[in-house]
Amino acid sequence: MSFTLPPLPFPVDALEPHISATTIGYHYGKHHAGYLARTNELLARSDSDDQVLESLIRAAYEQGDIALFNAAAQTWNHSFYWNSLHPKGGGQPRGTIATLIEKDFGEASFFLEQLEAAANGVFGSGWTWVVLYDGRLDIVSTSNAESPLVRDQVPLLVIDIWEHAYYLDHQNRRAVYVRAVLHHLINWEFANENLEAVSHLVLTDAASLNTAENTAYMASPD
Ligand SMILES: [Fe+2]
Repeated sequence: MSFTLPPLPFPVDALEPHISATTIGYHYGKHHAGYLARTNELLARSDSDDQVLESLIRAAYEQGDIALFNAAAQTWNHSFYWNSLHPKGGGQPRGTIATLIEKDFGEASFFLEQLEAAANGVFGSGWTWVVLYDGRLDIVSTSNAESPLVRDQVPLLVIDIWEHAYYLDHQNRRAVYVRAVLHHLINWEFANENLEAVSHLVLTDAASLNTAENTAYMASPD
């Protein structure tokens, strides 16, 4: 069993001027591809026949196979990151996630401030995620390869906070990169697609999303 590198969901220069084609070229072609190659190399030496990357990640984590977990999780995290970006993304949240933000965080501006602060506050290398956790929207950061997949959290969006995501463009100025992602690239539609796939965890009545004062759409009571 071996996994293949999914194509980027946009041309390599599509995120300019916010993230350069040079950064994407290295990030996708060297880092992401490197994690995938490492995953396949480790799998070739193992007796795993997992054909779904998510279940492989969970199994490696549960078995304490840190090398395989790191490689496989980084492979998955990067695919999720590319889909979390869009050339016409950024700005005000839209659709289902906007309604959940209003319910769980209040003003969208407050949520965006929290997301920005979380990303800027990551110590070392890691990821900042928007997740669904116990039916509620939440912001979490993880270190190194760690993933919400092993925390019973449903990932909705992610920002890569490893230096390789921004160093060629912005050197040490992570905050400039994070702001550019939030203002111009973050893919709210991808979050909405992910929410739709787990709507049974969140909603009892999709129509209620259109009614701000209707709060009776949480599937699992606290
Ligand atoms: Fe990365």
